[in-house]
Amino acid sequence: MKKLAKNIALCIQPVPQTIVTCRDSEGHNNALVVGFTANVSLDPIMVMVGIVPTRHSYHMVKETGCFVINLPGKSFQKEYAYLGSRSGRDEDKFAALGLKWTDAEYVNAPILTDCPVSIECSVIESTRPGSHELFIGKVEAVHVDEEYLDANGNIQWEKIDLMK
Ligand SMILES: Cc1cc2nc3c(=O)[nH]c(=O)nc-3n(C[C@H](O)[C@H](O)[C@H](O)COP(=O)(O)O)c2cc1C
Repeated sequence: MKKLAKNIALCIQPVPQTIVTCRDSEGHNNALVVGFTANVSLDPIMVMVGIVPTRHSYHMVKETGCFVINLPGKSFQKEYAYLGSRSGRDEDKFAALGLKWTDAEYVNAPILTDCPVSIECSVIESTRPGSHELFIGKVEAVHVDEEYLDANGNIQWEKIDLMK
């Protein structure tokens, strides 16, 4: 028999574990942990991230209209915890953690090179139904460590030791 649950926020589980990277108009890089992440469309391929307006990253995504979703591996636990609890408003988190990064190819944002998968996105539209603004992004490119691609360029997800 089922009963009605209490504390029903985050009722879809497991929550994805992602790190969103972005950049402001002056070229400062930032990154935050985002659990509100989802696939949105297959044609065109689109995804979504939900960002609370008080996050320092929020104005960066608003300004540049783009972001990168990085999928961390299990070895990135320390960085993940830091990026999800400290704000770029107070410090340069990239410098504090010594994060390795490179410029994305299609959007104005950094890619975390130590994450096995990084997804470049251009914001198509955004909506704010509640606490989080939902940024819907067209997927411009997906970068994957080459050891996880087969000969045809398909991602071998089962081989990647993603944080879960
Ligand atoms: C597991 C986890 C999931 C999170 N998910 C989100 C999220 O979906 N959206 C959001 O705005 N903040 C989320 N946060 C909080 C931000 O990552 C955190 O407030 C971060 O310090 C904001 O950094 P910023 O101010 O530099 O942008 C999450 C934090 C954790 C630990």
